[in-house]
Amino acid sequence: MAISQEDLFKKIVAHCKEYGFIYQSSEIYDGLSAVYDYGPYGSLLKNNIKEYWWKSMVQLHDNIVGIDAAIFMHPTTWKASGHVDAFNDPLVDNKDSKKRYRADQLIEGYMDKIEAKIKKEVEKAANRFENFDEAMYRSTNPRVVEYQNEINTIDKRMNDAMKNGDMAELKQIIEDLQIACPESGSRNWTDVRQFNLMFNTQLGNISGEEGKLYLRPETAQGIFVNFLNVQKTTRQKVPFGIAQIGKAFRNEIVARQFIFRMREFEQMEMQFFIRPGSEMEWYEYWKNARMQWHLALGTDASKLKFKDHDNLAHYANAAVDIQFEFPFGFKELEGIHSRTDYDLSQHQQFSGKKLQYFDTELNQSYVPYVVETSVGCDRMFLAMMSNAYQEETVPDAQGEDATRTVLKIHPALSPIKCAILPLLKNKEELTKKAKTIYDNLKLAFTCQYDEKDAIGKRYRRQDAIGTPFCVTIDFETLENDTVTIRDRDTLKQERISIKDIEQAVLSKTEMRYLFS
Ligand code: GAP
Repeated sequence: MAISQEDLFKKIVAHCKEYGFIYQSSEIYDGLSAVYDYGPYGSLLKNNIKEYWWKSMVQLHDNIVGIDAAIFMHPTTWKASGHVDAFNDPLVDNKDSKKRYRADQLIEGYMDKIEAKIKKEVEKAANRFENFDEAMYRSTNPRVVEYQNEINTIDKRMNDAMKNGDMAELKQIIEDLQIACPESGSRNWTDVRQFNLMFNTQLGNISGEEGKLYLRPETAQGIFVNFLNVQKTTRQKVPFGIAQIGKAFRNEIVARQFIFRMREFEQMEMQFFIRPGSEMEWYEYWKNARMQWHLALGTDASKLKFKDHDNLAHYANAAVDIQFEFPFGFKELEGIHSRTDYDLSQHQQFSGKKLQYFDTELNQSYVPYVVETSVGCDRMFLAMMSNAYQEETVPDAQGEDATRTVLKIHPALSPIKCAILPLLKNKEELTKKAKTIYDNLKLAFTCQYDEKDAIGKRYRRQDAIGTPFCVTIDFETLENDTVTIRDRDTLKQERISIKDIEQAVLSKTEMRYLFS
């Protein structure tokens, strides 16, 4: 029986903990909300995601260089970037339950419920009619059309209120829709007010406002303030990019959905500096390049889509999200933004230092325009896990049906590339031989030696952490230096020579195959 998306998500979260991918931060103290630690396999997978991004951006582009800027920045940075005044979410408290919510998320939750009703109607009709045309049904069935109109009206009202910073209107929408607190069912709400998402702290040697420091809410500003340093020291010519991977911090009001929305997370961002007027051309280029990057991992194309921003930020003249279909629906995975010359111009104004580029071809100086690509590393991790987690029926050692949980992660990103398994643990000839093979192979890629439990159980353990290859050392190995190599996805076992294992594993797990 097919499991619901809600149950699937619960299983993925449980799997992440059980197999050492992700733990709640400070769990022994009952945890810290929306903060997570990566375990042994999680940190390997996360590093592989970062390496894949870094290679595709920095190593493969002559005109993109990387930096590693500090988390703390001069506080004026955040005044210039607009974060001090405008990096807000609309906060509302329920007076009875004392729970805090984002007003826009409460309204979105209401719309999600209507969307669920539409889905139910569509599913019912799809089961009833042969050659069912979903698009036609959605546009002609009176009940579905009515639901859709209701969503559109609410969506427009909410977007207008958000765009105009109209908190009173957001409260009015909540009241008009009679939205209740999900915890208590109470409709006793406070006014909606702006809540700044930046965490702050204090410098040790300066008291008061002057010593106030922020934990960066995005890595991008570390790139903007270093624009001239990097351009001059690397002699890059426009168009060129600066890439960075690093931590960002946001005091999210409601942090839900596991590592989807965290208070401490990691971003992989690239700012591409271009001639004014060429931004739409580069915007299209990066939109497509970034979609290809996601598709190269083997993700089904139907699970990824572009979603244009309804409301453009004041600095952007185009913005799109790459959305992934998580078990809780299509949500933002990555943003591609045409940020004009807003950030560099602001820093130029606030610092009093020129941030211009002299274009020798045009014989002219200008503040470059910027196209940004920004993807959350943790969100990418969750997307990969959601895509990879599968429960399958496979034959066991006796040929009977058995269920296995397998992570079908792209082999190039799998935490462990190859497991080395002696058939029996109490036969020293086998374990000794297996350990020699392991000691050689671990120089080439991540390997794991495992001799505990029956071989079938060990295969299952490797499937559960996404290991693409298992090498088994048996009695025939002692006679002719051959082993069996088992493929995680096809379950096929082949007999190959020990000297060929390294190449067999590398031929499927090297990152270069993601770029071809
Ligand atoms: N510099 C542009 C910027 O920061 P954003 O859309 O706010 O844009 C970019 O964030 C990406 O960072 C998102 O697409 C998402 O993948 C990730 N991200 C943002 N907030 C996050 C959070 N609270 N937890 C995890 N990832 C987050």
